[in-house]
Amino acid sequence: MAYEAAEAAASRIAAASGRQSHDVGLVLGSGLKEFADDLPGAVVMDSAQLGFRQPQVVGHVGRVVSAEVAGTRLLTSAGRVHVYEGWDLADVVLAVRAMALAGCKTVILTNASGGIGEGLRPGDLVAISDHMNTIGRDPLVGDNDERLGPRFPDMSAVYPQRLRDIVAMSAAAVGIEYREGVYAWQLGPSYETPAEIEALRRLGAHMVGMSTVPEAIALAHMGVPIIGISLVTNLAAGIGTEPLSHDEVTEIAGQAKARFRALLMDLIPRIPLA
Ligand code: HPA
Repeated sequence: MAYEAAEAAASRIAAASGRQSHDVGLVLGSGLKEFADDLPGAVVMDSAQLGFRQPQVVGHVGRVVSAEVAGTRLLTSAGRVHVYEGWDLADVVLAVRAMALAGCKTVILTNASGGIGEGLRPGDLVAISDHMNTIGRDPLVGDNDERLGPRFPDMSAVYPQRLRDIVAMSAAAVGIEYREGVYAWQLGPSYETPAEIEALRRLGAHMVGMSTVPEAIALAHMGVPIIGISLVTNLAAGIGTEPLSHDEVTEIAGQAKARFRALLMDLIPRIPLA
């Protein structure tokens, strides 16, 4: 069923966009939702019509855009749905499975996160080097569909070094300091306690957030390499002195938009198409 749903979405994307295949997928996190709207050849699709669940968070809209950036056929999805909204994991990962079946050979996952690692500050853009699933939920639980991937997928290079090297090149080109770190998934929607953040810090996490990991697992299952870029919107609980708020997350995301956009626009054409 998961496969059929993703395949149906992929064929609707091909029909609506007139592009039989895409090269790179891009999941747009907080603050980036209009990223693709003005790109050359942009075709905007309503994600409800592709069978995707609709986000319930203010600042998220359900939209899929097909466009081109310097010869790279890009498929973006804005308005991801989260597990904390109550959706099944299969619904949460449907958009990235559709991207993979639409031909994307690389997918960029972006998100907002709380900074745990030493020296991380709100506004920092950090390449995800690896992730930690500390929740114990996995989108691959249940019968395995071999058309998607193997029963026990390897997770040892989900965010390959060769792709992080490209992010580093783009960061240098647009004048952003390159950083990388480990992203820990928390279910949410409550933010973490300082004790939980201290535990995650000792486990080796540098950022914490409520998305990305289920999508990364589903893509790794399908053999699709990932570029993860996290925007640190706040210091995680207990790292800073301020209480956490979603308003702060959206405010910092808004402020970082131009830099994030510049990084992505430089990065997308550098991604190998094969
Ligand atoms: N914790 C979890 N998710 C987040 C945070 C955080 O501090 N900031 C942005 N998303």
